[in-house]
Amino acid sequence: MVNKGMKKQKRLVFFIALIAATGGLLFGFDTGVISGAIMFLRDDWGLMQHQVEWIIASLMIGAVIGAAFSGKLVDSIGRKYTIIIIAILFALGSLGSAFAPSFNFLALSRVVIGIAVGMASFTVPLYIAEISPARNRGALVSLNQLMITIGILLSYLSDLALVNVSDNWRWMFFVGLFPALVLLIGMLGLPKTPRFLMSKGREKEARETLAKYEDAAVIDEVMLKMKIDMDLLSSQKKSWKDIFNSWMIMPFIIGIGIMFFQQFIGINVFIYYGPMIFEMAGFQDNYIAIATAISIGFVNVFFTFVAMAYIDRIGRKKLYNIGLTGMIISLTLLGYFFYEHQMFEEHLKILVVVFTLSFVAFFAISLGPIAWLIISEIFPLKIRGLSMSIATLSHWLFNGIVSYTFLKISAFFTSEKMQIISKGEITVNPAGAFWFYAAIGVLGLIFGKYFLPETKGRTLEEIEEHWRKRKNPKDL
Ligand code: BGC
Repeated sequence: MVNKGMKKQKRLVFFIALIAATGGLLFGFDTGVISGAIMFLRDDWGLMQHQVEWIIASLMIGAVIGAAFSGKLVDSIGRKYTIIIIAILFALGSLGSAFAPSFNFLALSRVVIGIAVGMASFTVPLYIAEISPARNRGALVSLNQLMITIGILLSYLSDLALVNVSDNWRWMFFVGLFPALVLLIGMLGLPKTPRFLMSKGREKEARETLAKYEDAAVIDEVMLKMKIDMDLLSSQKKSWKDIFNSWMIMPFIIGIGIMFFQQFIGINVFIYYGPMIFEMAGFQDNYIAIATAISIGFVNVFFTFVAMAYIDRIGRKKLYNIGLTGMIISLTLLGYFFYEHQMFEEHLKILVVVFTLSFVAFFAISLGPIAWLIISEIFPLKIRGLSMSIATLSHWLFNGIVSYTFLKISAFFTSEKMQIISKGEITVNPAGAFWFYAAIGVLGLIFGKYFLPETKGRTLEEIEEHWRKRKNPKDL
């Protein structure tokens, strides 16, 4: 009986998390779709280079705005209604992009989608973390990362499938409408999180929601701990001034730090510039370069699955160390192969593909899911939304800096001997950039040793108490 009940609870939580994680799928889809759409859009409208850059940058600008201004919204109207607003923005942005009559209209629609991406990137993990029982919170929140990777892969595949359709780029954007509708309709039926209800003093509803999926044995304990946290915080002044409490410094160092390393390890260089890097390695055919890039998408999805299976068993810290070490080695080797590209000749292609895929696999089992998971776990309830939005804002800024500077850093380190000839033209060599990211990865290992807490199996309330007592992250 008990077992059957638990199975049902498990399925229910999984289903709730899955619907909410459609927000992650949209994050992945809408960041990935542009890579294919932009080539056709450029030809169709005869866009200049700066217009192309502006269309790509518009999503990032929107994401920064979305992350910056929605933190308070999540704490005031709640997680559920914020996600509903996000779904509406995704739908409007997709329609706007698909039917855009002019360049400015399209850029604006991409800003709207960016706002939705920025909001979704922290609200979805937050929602899932708060409805998950501690024992499998890691796997459930990682469902969001899994959906991001599936979204990226779907966008590559749908771009490829639509290449020969007339008005192809409009259709590429239009496809994003469907997951937005699933998210909108699905969220209408989902509960508000018990933590949010408690933060509004709605204790009875919080207990009822908790009872739907949490083990009966721990409900009283979780309720009590949430209550203690609420009482502690209401005896202090509320709102965003709370983030200036000295015990809040540690969660911010951890949250912003992990986002720094997630982005500066260079993942999006491969996600956004994959085909171009393969071209530098000697692939001359566009179609093959894009098809090879799709393998990045598959490996990313597959290894995120692997992470989900292990994250609550072997813990965040071990995965972080294994993943980061693997990424540092892959980047160092990639740098070396590119540096000595003349010596490797034809073998360069296969070596670059193999170690790019190993890099992505190591990212997918570690920094990909762990960064979003950690920021959903370490901040105190009362200002969780606001704090997560700050960490997310840093993610989008770091993301923007890395993607904007990749080619510039590569050029900076390209000596005359290193220059690559691709399709008859001189191209920069990415070796220096890869070594730069590897060096940052080494700093990431040191950061992990001193600052990354092991949150496996801890309730969110235990984690909060740890900071409040000003304890060391190592001792959690
Ligand atoms: C990162 C994105 C990245 C994606 C790749 C996410 O966790 O935040 O920047 O593109 O993983 O899977």
